[in-house]
Amino acid sequence: MSNYIRLTYASSTTSKPATIRQDLLAILNEAQMHNSNHGICGVLFYGNNYFFECIEGRKLDIDILYEKLLKDPRHKEVVLLSYQPVTKMRFMGWNMKYVLQEPAIIEFFESNNWEKFNPYALDEDLIEPFLNILANHNESTPGEREEVLGREAVRGHVLNYKYAVFIIGIALLILVGMYMFTGFGSSVPVQGINMR
Ligand SMILES: Cc1cc2nc3c(=O)[nH]c(=O)nc-3n(C[C@H](O)[C@H](O)[C@H](O)COP(=O)(O)O)c2cc1C
Repeated sequence: MSNYIRLTYASSTTSKPATIRQDLLAILNEAQMHNSNHGICGVLFYGNNYFFECIEGRKLDIDILYEKLLKDPRHKEVVLLSYQPVTKMRFMGWNMKYVLQEPAIIEFFESNNWEKFNPYALDEDLIEPFLNILANHNESTPGEREEVLGREAVRGHVLNYKYAVFIIGIALLILVGMYMFTGFGSSVPVQGINMR
């Protein structure tokens, strides 16, 4: 007998890179509070400005929540990927687990020949393996890594990193130059000690 419904959908964020962290925190807070009051479990994945969410619970609760989700202005282009009766909740114990892009997930995209994560391309055969990865993965914290801030921020970090490497390189060159310039003079007493 099927006691629960498992619903998955894909959507795109409407948040700007500057506010995505704040918006994710608010969404997760609302989700965790409402879901725990209604016996709903699930997982929210965010990457490349897309959301993938799985919610599990009693049919009426899931239907009501999905109606609200469709009207939420913090995301757009909401597409239902699956809606199936299940006997067991896969995310039992998680009122809303949150997962960001991790090596195992990036590997999953690459093995399906995607340049980047695109939840709209998850067909029936891929939803199950993707849910397995999310179920077995550690939970992430919103804003803990560059992906959450959007591509502009990632580019900014790469640029800063390049500047840091450049400055360290110049500093090393100056040190080596100073050592060569002053180091030759100090080699005389050392030779004297060795000769004794
Ligand atoms: C990507 C995304 C995922 C969300 N997931 C949930 C969720 O799992 N549970 C939930 O109660 N609200 C979730 N929300 C928020 C709901 O859309 C809605 O704002 C919230 O349930 C409060 O609705 P209410 O003020 O009408 O009660 C999510 C919103 C977004 C944008």
